[in-house]
Amino acid sequence: MPSSYAGALVAVRDVESLRRRVQAWRREGRSIALVPTMGALHKGHLTLMDRAQKMADRVVATIFVNPKQFGPNEDFQAYPRPEHDDFEMLNAAGVHVLFAPDAAAMYPNGFVTNVRVAGLSEVLDGAHRPVHFDGVSTVVTKLLLQTLPDIALFGEKDYQQLAIIKRLVADLNIPVDIIGVPTVRDADGLALSSRNAYLTPAERAQAPKLYTAIVAAAAAIAAGGDVAKAMATARDDLLKAGFREVDYVEARNAETLAPLSNAREPGRVLAAAHLGRARLIDNVAI
Ligand code: PAF
Repeated sequence: MPSSYAGALVAVRDVESLRRRVQAWRREGRSIALVPTMGALHKGHLTLMDRAQKMADRVVATIFVNPKQFGPNEDFQAYPRPEHDDFEMLNAAGVHVLFAPDAAAMYPNGFVTNVRVAGLSEVLDGAHRPVHFDGVSTVVTKLLLQTLPDIALFGEKDYQQLAIIKRLVADLNIPVDIIGVPTVRDADGLALSSRNAYLTPAERAQAPKLYTAIVAAAAAIAAGGDVAKAMATARDDLLKAGFREVDYVEARNAETLAPLSNAREPGRVLAAAHLGRARLIDNVAI
């Protein structure tokens, strides 16, 4: 990846260079937005960049495929890393700085700290991916403290991740506003995700069923239907549609992620299911 390019985007790989840039902007009185990503950027990420640009004077995007948030049998090695394309997309989007550290810069020898948001990290995806949210919490805490932005933006597609990040920022008094940005979908409803690249054409045709199943479940609950029945129907629909395994389909309180007790509290239906080689997640408001 070049360190500078035709546009204004500058790539930095170490924390000191990132801090120098940010401090210079601070001296000019600029506000700063941070958009953490693992790269393999798509239109959903560009929506985050666009929103960041509308909300702050300067935008820092990060690309780091964080080894700590992948379990031993997960897709860390296979995770797509199209660095050059990512750089070009961020450049065209008018992002100012790309922070792209390697694992040694992020986790130097001797690194032992783990950030854990208890409770929220153990349910839903956390029950199926035991190390995942500790890895996310640890790296996001580092990225926030390395950059010290005014705002940081995250997609609502990773709804549980967003809830965990809001909690850790509040608990640790990190002075940043966390902004959740609605999920971007293809025309057929499939939420955009870097992992959609794992789908074969036939699986890609089946994948939107995840969205339609949770939309139907949310509508049934909103209409006063039984929560357990709505969840069972969604699960059956997914298995019939060709998903090989459903990790969960659950209705939860939109803020606490506690099981939903009635349709009057703000709720969310969240699901994770396996289709071929891909594990897809999605969620919708009730
Ligand atoms: O959502 C992601 O892409 C990642 O989990 C994040 C927030 C960049 C942390 O690695």
